[in-house]
Amino acid sequence: MEKMENKATQMDLEYVTADETGLILEISSEFCRTLDVAESFIKGRYINQVIKGTTHNLSHHNGKKAVFFGVINGQPCLIRLDQHKHHHIYSILVKKNEIDLYEITSFMNSIKKPKIQTNSRNTNRYRFEDIVGDGPLMTQMKELAARIATSNSTVLLTGESGTGKELFAQAIHGLSSRKDQPFVAVNCAAIPEDLFESEVFGYEAGAFSGAKREGKPGKIELAQNGTLFLDEISELPYLAQGKLLRVLQEKEVERLGGTGAKNVDIRIIAATNRDLKTLVQEGKFRQDLFYRLYVFELKIPSLRQRKEDILPLTEHFIHYYNEQFNQEVKYIDPKLQEWLIGNDWPGNIRELRAIIERGMNIVEGDTLTLECFRFTSFTENAGPPPTNETPLNVQSLEEEVQKAEMNAIKWALKESDGDKTIAAQRLKIHPASLYRKISKYGIK
Ligand SMILES: Nc1ncnc2c1ncn2[C@@H]1O[C@H](COP(=O)(O)OP(=O)(O)OP(=O)(O)O)[C@@H](O)[C@H]1O
Ligand SMILES: [Mg+2]
Repeated sequence: MEKMENKATQMDLEYVTADETGLILEISSEFCRTLDVAESFIKGRYINQVIKGTTHNLSHHNGKKAVFFGVINGQPCLIRLDQHKHHHIYSILVKKNEIDLYEITSFMNSIKKPKIQTNSRNTNRYRFEDIVGDGPLMTQMKELAARIATSNSTVLLTGESGTGKELFAQAIHGLSSRKDQPFVAVNCAAIPEDLFESEVFGYEAGAFSGAKREGKPGKIELAQNGTLFLDEISELPYLAQGKLLRVLQEKEVERLGGTGAKNVDIRIIAATNRDLKTLVQEGKFRQDLFYRLYVFELKIPSLRQRKEDILPLTEHFIHYYNEQFNQEVKYIDPKLQEWLIGNDWPGNIRELRAIIERGMNIVEGDTLTLECFRFTSFTENAGPPPTNETPLNVQSLEEEVQKAEMNAIKWALKESDGDKTIAAQRLKIHPASLYRKISKYGIK
């Protein structure tokens, strides 16, 4: 993994170093200036005489990096501890004359926790550069997507769950002439059928009981001049399919209970992990709408079809979690590489990412190994164990199904950082049903 740079060498300017016993060896002049202390006063003292008011144990280190809060010369600071061989380096991350606990806490959280992606804002969107994978299939995919992006045509993204359809949708929008306009995502599977029309088409004042007095624009209106991303389009209720078709044909939308139609100028990107053609044959998806959507189909290959991308993706996620968890992993052990490449990845990149996140929580040192995964219970996540020593100890089918359901819910909650709406989306169930299951299984 030569590509990964060594973050630890980019030392901050304001630092003190100490030996294993905590004896201070060196102080940067910036440290002295910022904290208004004399070098001669600090040198030869112990670190716990300089950093006070901290719950972090300064005399016992377990060889790990840490970020903690402490007071130096009466000034609250956020401090990072790095360890290099037998030296401990304490750098000042943030200095605050007045403690702003909220800011510090959110800063600490941003260091520890991975950021969750949400669609509600236009910021934080994926760009083409963020799509990892330079194997022949992916290169071809990116080229095709980039060419389609500049046209205004409807795009249908297909591919298994977790292959990166949403990533492509965002990247396509970002390359199009609409890039400065809204990108509005609608997960057709997450909105209950009876709310669907009001969410997507909007409603006028007094359209139904419980409606907001002032009415509400639907997602279509919100996407005006931009892109409407219809995720899990196969789950679009049949009646709404007809209504959507009219919007696409007439380029007009009428709110529920409305009296007039408004012009709309939107580009549609739809995604599905199901075979729409089969659904059309089964009478579950309108053929006319299918042909409207099926202008450009972009089939995202599964991860097992492009094994050459597995290691680059792994490196990408290691890099990401290095920053998020303050780790310093630089290498992937050959045995782990072998397992990663040999695995089938039914959950594709989403599954790979979840597994790397797990390992990165456990890893100590600079190498991610199979051992980092042995301590985690692989029955609790989407992936199979990295060994073939799984004991066969099957309970009744019902119990097994419940166990699997419970584990999937725990996994989704963990992945979504406890956000039940996002977790429900991931599980493709209604939030109400997720709440019921959480209380049924007593999940905390
Ligand atoms: N090529 C890639 N490079 C980096 N990250 C990726 C790539 N492809 C997917 N991911 C990551 O994998 C996860 C799943 O991707 P995404 O949500 O786009 O999948 P999806 O195809 O929409 O899945 P589903 O059908 O289940 O909705 C995301 O966290 C995304 O960031
Ligand atoms: Mg998706």
